[in-house]
Amino acid sequence: MSNSLLKIGHRGAKAHVAENTIASINKALNIGVDAIEIDVHKCASGELVVFHDFTLDRMTNGSGEVAKHSLEQLKQLRVLGEFEIPTLEEVLDAIDRKCVLNIELKGKDTASVACEIISEYIETRRWQLADFLISSFQLEELKTVFNLNSKLRLGVLTKASVSEAIKNANIINAYAIHPNVALLTKDNVKLAQDKGYKVITWTVNDEVTIQRVKTYGVNGIISDNPELL
Ligand code: G3P
Ligand code: CA
Repeated sequence: MSNSLLKIGHRGAKAHVAENTIASINKALNIGVDAIEIDVHKCASGELVVFHDFTLDRMTNGSGEVAKHSLEQLKQLRVLGEFEIPTLEEVLDAIDRKCVLNIELKGKDTASVACEIISEYIETRRWQLADFLISSFQLEELKTVFNLNSKLRLGVLTKASVSEAIKNANIINAYAIHPNVALLTKDNVKLAQDKGYKVITWTVNDEVTIQRVKTYGVNGIISDNPELL
């Protein structure tokens, strides 16, 4: 990652195409993002699937918990009537190193499977450590990643407190903190950066707020409309 602002598509390009689908990933790539953020859950047969909610009801024709369905069952569903739920590997293959992938470990017990898949793509598909950024609201998942591969870049997500995110970032030698945009001030951005962390904020969708947080000197912005960045 360079020192300039990282332009990050949220769940692909959420404002344009159904979130967390290959079509949304391709839209973000066409826009020309520096990175794409996605969410992962572990399904009942053990694979990581790319999906935001813990339940299927809002986005698909299914219902109940993602974690209680096998991959075969999930693949029969349609996101907004049209799209398949992708696996993490399908997203990696679609991106094919054209930009950084920010994997948010959303579901429980996702860290170790994510590390296995990342190692495989680094060892056999020419992906590099810097092509990945692993974030989570769950410190335990981030600790698991740190214990399995301390070289992977980690981001501490928070919608509660920048200072708490900095404390947690210290524990796992994080690369970045990822505060909700409502928490940001010019001073706390500088505080985090002075302590050695990048600041990547979400989800910033309107031009006025995008311009404001740019004046704070943030390192990255996650947006449903990455073309505005
Ligand atoms: O990673 C930033 C953001 O996506 C976190 O919140 O609910 O959109 O996953 P959410
Ligand atoms: Ca997310």
